[in-house]
Amino acid sequence: MCGIVGYVGTRKATAIILEGLKRLEYRGYDSAGLAILQDGGLEVTRRVGRVEELSKAASKLPLHGTVGLGHTRWATHGGVTEANAHPHVSSDGKFALIHNGVIENYSQIKTFLLGKGYSFKSETDTEVLCNLIAYHYAKQPRGANGGSPFLSSVRKALRHVEGTYGIAALCVDFPTEIVAARKASPLILGVGENEYLLASDASALVSRTQNVVYLKDGELVHITNRDFAISTLDQADVSPVVDRIDWTVEEAGMDGHAHFMEKEIFEQPVALENTMRGRFSEDGSTALFGGLNLTPAEMRQVDRFMFCACGTAWHACLVAEHLIERFARVPVEVDYSSEFRYRNAPLDPQTLFFVISQSGETIDTLAALREAKRKGYRVLAINNVVGSSIAREADGGIFQHVGPEIGVASTKTFTSQLLLGAMVALYVSRMRDMSFNDGVDYVKALRGAPELVRRALAQAPHIKEVAKRYAHYTDFLFLGRLSLFPIALEGALKLKEISYIHSEGYPAAEMKHGPIALISEKCPSVFLAPRGEIFNKIVSSMQEIKARKGPVIAITTESSELPPGLADEVILIPDCHEAVLPIVATIPVQLLSYYIAVERGCDVDKPRNLAKSVTVE
Ligand code: AGP
Repeated sequence: MCGIVGYVGTRKATAIILEGLKRLEYRGYDSAGLAILQDGGLEVTRRVGRVEELSKAASKLPLHGTVGLGHTRWATHGGVTEANAHPHVSSDGKFALIHNGVIENYSQIKTFLLGKGYSFKSETDTEVLCNLIAYHYAKQPRGANGGSPFLSSVRKALRHVEGTYGIAALCVDFPTEIVAARKASPLILGVGENEYLLASDASALVSRTQNVVYLKDGELVHITNRDFAISTLDQADVSPVVDRIDWTVEEAGMDGHAHFMEKEIFEQPVALENTMRGRFSEDGSTALFGGLNLTPAEMRQVDRFMFCACGTAWHACLVAEHLIERFARVPVEVDYSSEFRYRNAPLDPQTLFFVISQSGETIDTLAALREAKRKGYRVLAINNVVGSSIAREADGGIFQHVGPEIGVASTKTFTSQLLLGAMVALYVSRMRDMSFNDGVDYVKALRGAPELVRRALAQAPHIKEVAKRYAHYTDFLFLGRLSLFPIALEGALKLKEISYIHSEGYPAAEMKHGPIALISEKCPSVFLAPRGEIFNKIVSSMQEIKARKGPVIAITTESSELPPGLADEVILIPDCHEAVLPIVATIPVQLLSYYIAVERGCDVDKPRNLAKSVTVE
């Protein structure tokens, strides 16, 4: 999604801003631009396409200013054109503005501003807001209240705005300052040595400082070359809390891998170790969570769980549902955040809410969280980004601790969510009917997950060969049952999002209720077929596919006995405990999708039309 970078300091701003924009590329965007304050004016450069294009254009200009803004845009209002790219400049030439989010009442404001003589060069809501700031600035009596006219004109404009925003503005009359603000769109201030940075994502500023202030909704920050001050839309001063980012820019590097996605797939054993570190009881029979803000007695009162999320995180919810119902025998409901927020579901009073989001910024999940809280429910979050909106607004939760995930496709954050879902299931089960010994076995199984994932990853060369043989197909089915049905959904999503191949996930037995019509020699089916109670039923589904000439790729456990010749390709995973199986079975579907996408020459880390965190509705 759109990215924001700002710089106020003593060095040339352009290179620092461009480096920040490069680090935000993974979020997905379609154009980029920058504005530098220098020589009493604004130098604005924008390009459609990659930041590389913007860098080339900027290198031809004499940019020497030490204050500036940069932006990567993911189109919402208006097409992908240079005119619509940010920064936008007010028609009086005084202000430049970058903006993430959507101004919902932009059209009424535009009509008002047109009546006041302001003009527009783009189709964007951002240019409307930029001119609204200029309007308030122009009509402000100078020296009236002693406050900054730059800050107060931004504040006044924002009071008229409906929608969401993370914004940063420059004003030619204040050549060493930036004013920024947020509402439902992340914004972080980096506090460096003799410099301040601003970014929508910590990865854009962590190379210069690890000291950050996470702005909250409704807050503005006024940055000068000497200082910064935070206040609210209602003009109340806010004491800043400076946090420290606990990862470095090196951890966000590619480490010899061809893509971030590949690196992140292979990081999963370590990511899982980090996720569970320190989270088991001393007697090794249950899970421990520090941040739930819920006593065991309160947890014991819960008689229903509701999980909300989007995309891959929603698949993690489905696995959590399976494990909590299977082991703890507590009913679980799962909903898409985007549906839950509007469907006004009747809820049981003793329901405990969980939202899952790797980014912590997904707008639908944030809205679902707020809706649940508004109804008086306690909401816990499983999330990977400390300081994210969801982490801050939830009543408690569990951080994933897997480090930054740069590839747009969720991989290590997904398996870490699966692990935490399994740990929540254990925690709740041990408060109910799970025995001490069963708890110990469960914990041992979870502790063994990283090693089993390493063994599954060792199949990578074989999976790469399979991918080469299948990369030319244009339709795929992914089929699984019980806890592996969500992994079938995840396999289909991974494949479609990074390779643009049409793929669908189904519970294997649902095949004959429709999807079987798709089967031919042109549509391979990827079966998740572990040893277990319904292995034979999955084998029957495979036979139905083979009878219709459909190619079969079977992902199966080492000890299962597939009828010879039934599958065209066999990918083995180690046998494992039910709670770990979804994690281990995820590895081959990730690798298969990744290698197929690479084989097809796709931009794996930055797939078209997608964004790492979806901060618009
Ligand atoms: C994952 O590969 C997808 N790109 C996407 O479905 C993602 O899981 C979804 O947008 C939710 O994101 P979140 O975890 O940041 O909330």
